[in-house]
Amino acid sequence: MENKSIFDLETVYLDDENNAIVLLDQTLLPNEIKYLHLTTQPEIWEAIKELRVRGAPAIGITAAYGAYLGVKNSSLDEFEPFYVVFKSVKQYLASARPTAVNLFWALDKMESCLLANQQRPIEEIIHTLHDQAEEIKAEDIRTNKAIGEYGLSVIQPGWGILTHCNAGSLATGKYGTATAPMYLGQERGYNLKVFADETRPLLQGARLTTFELAAAGIDVTLICDNMAATVMKKGWIQAVFVGCDRVAANGDTANKIGTAGVAILAHEYGIPFYVCAPSSTIDMATPTGDQIEIELRKPEEIYKKWYAKPMAPEQGVKFYNPAFDVTDAKYITGIITELGIARPPYSQTLLQIFEKKR
Ligand code: MRU
Repeated sequence: MENKSIFDLETVYLDDENNAIVLLDQTLLPNEIKYLHLTTQPEIWEAIKELRVRGAPAIGITAAYGAYLGVKNSSLDEFEPFYVVFKSVKQYLASARPTAVNLFWALDKMESCLLANQQRPIEEIIHTLHDQAEEIKAEDIRTNKAIGEYGLSVIQPGWGILTHCNAGSLATGKYGTATAPMYLGQERGYNLKVFADETRPLLQGARLTTFELAAAGIDVTLICDNMAATVMKKGWIQAVFVGCDRVAANGDTANKIGTAGVAILAHEYGIPFYVCAPSSTIDMATPTGDQIEIELRKPEEIYKKWYAKPMAPEQGVKFYNPAFDVTDAKYITGIITELGIARPPYSQTLLQIFEKKR
């Protein structure tokens, strides 16, 4: 990393010449920087499922590249059978994880692109799919820059900011969502003090957020999840910034497990709680958080994955490992998008955001 910026570490990119998705294996961070070259659909599916690539926008970008590669070398020359193959690739990739709406959003965008070009020869359709996938990544980077500007507008120099999980550069095309204001603040001399929740059980905060913020020279302190109340009570936190996997039409927000608890604590201590959400993460077709499917993951992640020996008896104990929770809209001070900050009542302001987008 010497003389290199954290932004030189690309989360995911397409190596078109070699028909591969190249991604930084996030399960190995912070100890090892290793890029994987994925060429088959099962490899791509596994990388999303096992969180080698993770974070809602990065999952979307990977799926878009995956959908393109899934049909790139098709020998079919008729649209209908080509479309059948595309749909099966899409369905397969969409089954990797259920909560982050960006996965479905990106795959839907790819399908719309394909359908809009169906009159053209297959070779040209494939070309437009390539361009659409690259545009999904480019749009994500532009979006995060804009979120950074809006986010910074609610922060003052010297503030303490708490974040949960990793909604950073590693979770996106670049810059992150919740971290975008932090990076911008760093550039502009804000001297922010970031507190990163470790984020059990998969430790995205400890392994990824501290890794990328420290590499950028940002003042970052790692705390265990159960220490958030303490740092808030001490007056060290002036705002909370988190990312999200899906925002429902009423503002209820699914994000990494533990986020809802942080929001309730912030409310208790009168600390503003902001959700950073690219409009691609806002799902107006989901009315409230109750309709968001929450991914359940393996028990091993709780008691075994990071330890030399199991940290709970393996017999006679039940385990429950939801990967996300839903923060009720009433605890959210603002939803920071690339098109502005939505504030309550979200059922109106989120609609206005989409009107702006149109
Ligand atoms: O299970 P993960 O690591 O994919 O969960 C990621 C999060 O919860 C992030 O906060 C969210 O996807 C936003 S990333 C900009």
